[in-house]
Amino acid sequence: MPLQIESFEAYRSAQKKSKHNPEQFWAEIANHFDWQRPFKEVHSGKMEDASTRWFGDGQINITENALDRNLRERGDQIALHWEPNDPNSEGQSFTYSELHRTVSQFGNAMRAMGVKKGERVVLYMPMVPELAIAVLACARIGAVHSVVFAGFSAQALSDRIEDAQASMVITANAGRRGAKTIPLKATVDEALKENQSVQNVIVKSVTSDPCFMDTSRDVWWKDAMLSTEPLAPCSAEIMDAEDMLFILYTSGSTGKPKGVVHTHGGYTVYAGYSFANVFQCQPGDVYWCSADIGWITGHTYIVYGPLLQGGTTIMFEGIPTFPDPGRYWAICEKYKVTQFYTAPTAIRALMACGDEHVERYDLSSLRVLGSVGEPINEEAWHWYHEKVGHSKCPIVDTWWQTETGGIMISGLGNLSPQKPAHAGYPLPGIHPVLVDPEGNTIKDNGKEGLLCIAAPWPSMIRTTYGDHERCLNTYFRPFPGRYFTGDGAKRDENGMYRVIGRVDDVINVSGHRFGTAEIESALNQTPGVIESAVVGYEHEIKGQGIHAYVICEQFPSESESIEMAKAAEGQVILGIGKIARPDRIQFVAGLPKTRSGKIMRRILRKIASGDFDQFGDTSTLLDPSVVDEIVDKAKRLI
Ligand code: WT7
Repeated sequence: MPLQIESFEAYRSAQKKSKHNPEQFWAEIANHFDWQRPFKEVHSGKMEDASTRWFGDGQINITENALDRNLRERGDQIALHWEPNDPNSEGQSFTYSELHRTVSQFGNAMRAMGVKKGERVVLYMPMVPELAIAVLACARIGAVHSVVFAGFSAQALSDRIEDAQASMVITANAGRRGAKTIPLKATVDEALKENQSVQNVIVKSVTSDPCFMDTSRDVWWKDAMLSTEPLAPCSAEIMDAEDMLFILYTSGSTGKPKGVVHTHGGYTVYAGYSFANVFQCQPGDVYWCSADIGWITGHTYIVYGPLLQGGTTIMFEGIPTFPDPGRYWAICEKYKVTQFYTAPTAIRALMACGDEHVERYDLSSLRVLGSVGEPINEEAWHWYHEKVGHSKCPIVDTWWQTETGGIMISGLGNLSPQKPAHAGYPLPGIHPVLVDPEGNTIKDNGKEGLLCIAAPWPSMIRTTYGDHERCLNTYFRPFPGRYFTGDGAKRDENGMYRVIGRVDDVINVSGHRFGTAEIESALNQTPGVIESAVVGYEHEIKGQGIHAYVICEQFPSESESIEMAKAAEGQVILGIGKIARPDRIQFVAGLPKTRSGKIMRRILRKIASGDFDQFGDTSTLLDPSVVDEIVDKAKRLI
C-alpha cells in the first residue's frame, strides 16, 4: 500500500482493509519509515487499561525520518521558511542539509550540557526557528520535549515544569507578536523561583531587550552553540518505539492540566501518514500551517508531519492582523503557498475585517485549505472557500485532539466529498463510533451521540504523565474497549461526521482548550471571592466566550464590582494567562445547586447564551429563586 492514497475508491478499500486486517494495514504504513531496528510485533495491549503498544519491539528515532532520510534526495530543498513578525525584516530559510546541521549542533550542545535520554526539557519560546530546532534536537538525543505555549503565565509554566520534573528550560529573552514585545525570560525566572529540578536554562536572544541572566544556570543559545564543534555529527539516540517523544499539557474537565504522552514509533508513523493523506502534498509544494508550535497542531503539522514527508514548511512568528489584516494572504502570495491550514477563529476574525484585505493578493497557488481547532460554521466555511480558495480548493475540516496525536476525521485533499461544517470521513485505519450515554452503539445514520474511537491507532495517547489512573478514567473507562473523545457528534445520512463540540466541562476559546475548573480555581484565589462557576457561550469570533459567575463574601456594589472584576480577571491572568481571561464576569448571590451540592451548569449555560426562559426541571434545586436573580442580572450584562 502506498503511504499516500490517490483516489476516493482507494480510500474506501484502504478503510475496508484496515478494518479486516488492522495489523497488516498498519505494518504496511509503518514500513514506509526508516527503523533503527525493524519491528516484528505490530500492536499489543488493550484499550481497556491503556496498555496499547505499537511496533513495540522496533526502534526508531523520528529525526532520522524527518531529517536524515531527506538528505539523500532533497538535501538542498528548503525544509523550513521562517517568516518574521515584521514583514520588513529579514526572514530565514533552511534547506534540509542546513536544518540537519543546525539540529545536530544544538543536539550536541544539549548533550554537552548533560541532557540525557529520557530527561524532560521544557520549551517556552516564541515562533522563531530555534523553537523547531530545539524540538528536533530534543528528539534527536532522546530527551522528552514539553513545549509550553508562550502565552501561559509564570504560574502555569511553573506547574508544567514541576509536573514534568524538567531538567532544562529553553526560552528566549523576549518574543514579538504584532506591535507587542513579550518578556519571556522574566516569566521563566519567576516560574523557577521555587524549582529544584531545572539545572540549566538556554536563552535565545530574539530582540534587543536586555534580560537577567543567572550565570550559574543560564546560557545564551549562541554560546551553547559555540561550545560545540559546528560540523560534528550528532548521532540519533536509539529509541524504542514506545520511548517517550514528548509531553504536551492540555486541559481536562477536572483539576490541573494533564501531560499527554506520545511516543517515537506510533507518532512518527501517524504524523507522516496523516500529513501525506490529508494535505495531499506533492514534491515542490509549499505548505503553511499558521498555528503555534505550543499546541499539538504545530507539533504534528508544522514540524513533524511536513518534514516526515520531505515537504517545505513555513513558520510564522507574528499574528494575522499585523501590520494589517492582509498578512496571511501576503504570506501565501510571497511563498506561493499550496496548502494552507488555519483555525476558524482566525477565519472569522479576518472575515470581519473586510474582503478588500484578501482580494489584494494573488492566491492562485493555493490547492488545499485546512481548518482545525473547533467546528467551522457555515458562514466562515463559505468565505474561506470563496474568498481565499476562489471556489477551487477543497476545505479539509480536520477533527482531532492533543490526545489523538494526528488528524482523525477529515477530507483527504480533493479526493473526498465535502460538506460545509462537516469533518467528513475518518482516515483509513480510524474507526469512530457514536454511543449513547449508556454506551450503546448508535448504528443508524442521522443521529447524534458521543464520539468514541473503537480501535487503537498508532499515535493514540499512551498515558497522562505521572498519573495513569487519570488517563484511564478520562478516556478508557467511560466506555470500555473504546477511546472516549469528550466530543458530541452527528453522522449524516451518508456517514459523514459533524463534530458538534465538547460534552464535558472543557471550553474551546479561539481554538484554545480550557477546563472550566482551572479557570474557576484561579477566580477563587481572588480575595473576597467565595465560589465561582464558569461556562462557555457562543461567541462570534472566538467560537466560545467565557462567562464567569462569581460569588463574593459581600455582594459588591456597582462601583465595587468594577474593582472586583478586575481583581478576579487578574487572578486568571496570573494563574493561566491572558488567553483565558473571562469575557464576562457576573457577580451573583448564589448558584443553582442541587440538594447534593452539584452546580447545575446546564442552567448557567442557557443563561449565558441569552436564553432566559424554560429551564426545564428545576425542582431538584436547593433554592430555585437564585435562578431569577441570575437571569435578572444577566439580562443587563449581555
Ligand atoms: C478539541 C481538541 C488538535 C486540533 C487542535 C485542538 C475540538 C478540534 C475540530 C474540528 C470540530 C474540533 C474538539 C476536540 N476540535 N478540531 N475540525 N471540528 N471540533 O486540539 O486543544 O486538543 O482540542 O478541539 O472539541 O475535542 P485540542
